[in-house]
Amino acid sequence: MKAVTVKNLTKKFGDLKAVDSISFDIEKGEIFGLLGPNGAGKTTTISMLATMKNPTSGKALIFGHDILKSQDGVRKSIGIVFQDQSLDEELTAWENMDFHGRLYRIDKETRNERTEELLKLVGLFERKDDLVKTFSGGMRRRLEIARGLLHRPKVLFLDEPTLGLDPQTRNYLWEYIEKLNQDYKISIIITTHYMEEADRLCDRIGIIDKGKIVAMDTPENLKSKIGGDIITIKSPDYREKLSSNRFWWSDKQEFSNGFFTITLSNAEEHLTEIISQLTKLKVTITSVSMHRPTLEDVFLHYTGRRIRDEEADFKDRMRMTMHKRPGRH
Ligand SMILES: Nc1ncnc2c1ncn2[C@@H]1O[C@H](COP(=O)(O)OP(=O)(O)OP(=O)(O)O)[C@@H](O)[C@H]1O
Ligand SMILES: [Mg+2]
Repeated sequence: MKAVTVKNLTKKFGDLKAVDSISFDIEKGEIFGLLGPNGAGKTTTISMLATMKNPTSGKALIFGHDILKSQDGVRKSIGIVFQDQSLDEELTAWENMDFHGRLYRIDKETRNERTEELLKLVGLFERKDDLVKTFSGGMRRRLEIARGLLHRPKVLFLDEPTLGLDPQTRNYLWEYIEKLNQDYKISIIITTHYMEEADRLCDRIGIIDKGKIVAMDTPENLKSKIGGDIITIKSPDYREKLSSNRFWWSDKQEFSNGFFTITLSNAEEHLTEIISQLTKLKVTITSVSMHRPTLEDVFLHYTGRRIRDEEADFKDRMRMTMHKRPGRH
């Protein structure tokens, strides 16, 4: 049986199609990523799968449980770690876990056993009796993940699990996520707008933009479909100095915002020749770089836009500002 089956799932808010007829399957033990920019429909998708929002149309099953007809079955099968944190800051780590266990009617002995095991898994057992308000952002996220696993879900939803965390903490979290996927063989759906995160963690990725999945495959296949390496030449006067924009080196050439981009296989073999021809034509070259395609290039290829880093940075800053506000939210 598939862990998750999604068929033409759609969510409208008024005229806006936040999620527009998406379909995908997830295998048992698979890590599936939904990668996309702000407002792409990632959280809305997960909210529907977690029975927190009803779809406008379409269908989804979690281990055979229909998200509309068998909500209890779905809820027992899933764990959720949402974008906005939901821990009780006035309780200790242990108490947060215990409270969650009671909600799921797990008996005391099992609760204690699992809480100890999971707090150890995420490296928080030594801090079990400290109030959550004394925890850093990374510790809170780890605790949320541990809590999401307490009732032994078969599918775990992680909505932007590393948003607002520094690179080192992000790396630790990736290790925990990989470890729990291996130890518990649990299926994970993760949403992110960090390319590196999707690339590192996911067995398969669905690239989502404006509510639609525009490409879906393994990270490797997505990148190899771009077809070769990418040479980027910064040149303010490329257009003006060349009568023809097109060269024989490759069909894929783009010029935008002062950058000349060429996609071709075995780029390093052609690089010297390209540069020397451009130099002969007196094109000003400010910089040259060459790289294998990344998921950023894949996103650009399918949408014509970038998942801009400023966007991610902006969100990170917003989140940190929100954490500093007094009182709970
Ligand atoms: N309750 C709501 N009412 C109206 N519009 C909504 C609601 N929730 C989400 N939307 C809209 O649906 C679209 C998708 O939102 P969603 O939160 O799913 O995006 P996302 O991919 O999770 O973005 P982010 O990366 O910012 O978290 C956005 O245009 C958003 O404004
Ligand atoms: Mg979101």
